Amino acid sequence: AKLQDIDPSKLSITRTTTPKELVPANELVFGKTFTDHMLSIEWTASDGWLPARITPYQNLSLDPASCVFHYAFECFEGMKAYKDSNGNVRLFRPTKNMERMNKSSARIALPTFDQAAMIQLISTFANMEQRFIPSTRGYSLYLRPTMIGTQRTLGVGPPGSALLYVIASPVGPYYPTGFKAISLEATDYAVRAWPGGVGDKKLGANYAPCILPQIQAATRGFHQNLWLFGEEEYVTEVGTMNMFVAIKNKKTGQKELLTAPLDGTILEGVTRDSVLSLAREKLAPEGWNIVERKYTMKELSDAAKEGRLLEAFGAGTAAIVSPIRNISWKGDLVDCGLRPEEEAGEIALRMKDWIEARQYGDEKHEWSYVV
Ligand code: COI
Repeated sequence: AKLQDIDPSKLSITRTTTPKELVPANELVFGKTFTDHMLSIEWTASDGWLPARITPYQNLSLDPASCVFHYAFECFEGMKAYKDSNGNVRLFRPTKNMERMNKSSARIALPTFDQAAMIQLISTFANMEQRFIPSTRGYSLYLRPTMIGTQRTLGVGPPGSALLYVIASPVGPYYPTGFKAISLEATDYAVRAWPGGVGDKKLGANYAPCILPQIQAATRGFHQNLWLFGEEEYVTEVGTMNMFVAIKNKKTGQKELLTAPLDGTILEGVTRDSVLSLAREKLAPEGWNIVERKYTMKELSDAAKEGRLLEAFGAGTAAIVSPIRNISWKGDLVDCGLRPEEEAGEIALRMKDWIEARQYGDEKHEWSYVV
């Protein structure tokens, strides 16, 4: 028999009889409270994707031998739904997340799915939960599509069954009182990703090993760690975000917005891609060079010493952009170009505005998808 793909027309909906009380917007903590419902779709190797269900948010019941618990058959996505000034719910570039999820799941022998069908289901779900989305700028509904291998076996092999589910958490601005530039510690004793590895996939297994270096950096007073790679000490990512730096070219003096290339060790961030697109669209005409290439910590340190490091920031779905004040490296503190009274550079500020204008639908743009 032909394996079924996801079919939105087969969706069944069971509404909660005990709607949750809304948490006041100013008390929202990232990923701590969830909406009334969840979207679930089971998959089996023999039938494919079974009919999708929206049910009250509830615990999962899984056999302790389920392969997700033993061999980390898990991948996820992070995306947001926004409410625009007309009260419409909008997703931001959802096709990017669905494409990436299929790449992640395929890499760990979990099933792939019809992306358009999944976006339709997520849209229905986001619409159902819209009372949880504050209309205020900076607020949104963080959506967490998740796929796990559910087969009950300790045998190491491709899961014969899987569960794809989506939960949703109302979130506020990452920096409720405005930008706060962060301090980083360059990590030289642990590696986040490596050539031929899975650092470019959104696997849960990539995140757990990052916590210890993060804690270690925190004990020394740093907000996040900066992931370097190799003897060359290439700059790769910052915490769970892609890294951007604005520098003046040593030879030509031309302004450059730099980020590491997608060589398999870099997460294919949707915000990363958005920053690059916006930079090519709006900064290039101002004379900026937009460059995806490998660059080293030494290069940054030299640029800082010569006054050529203009600013640095992380980019991700949770924070959009996160300005960086300095980086501790080999006992040195590399100054990333902000004045002491400044919490963000010009590029980070403008990027946040440009991206939000499209997320909240203030600017009509194909990146914004009205559900
Ligand atoms: C993001 O910056 O959006 C992330 O990847 C963080 C997420 C894992 C909570």
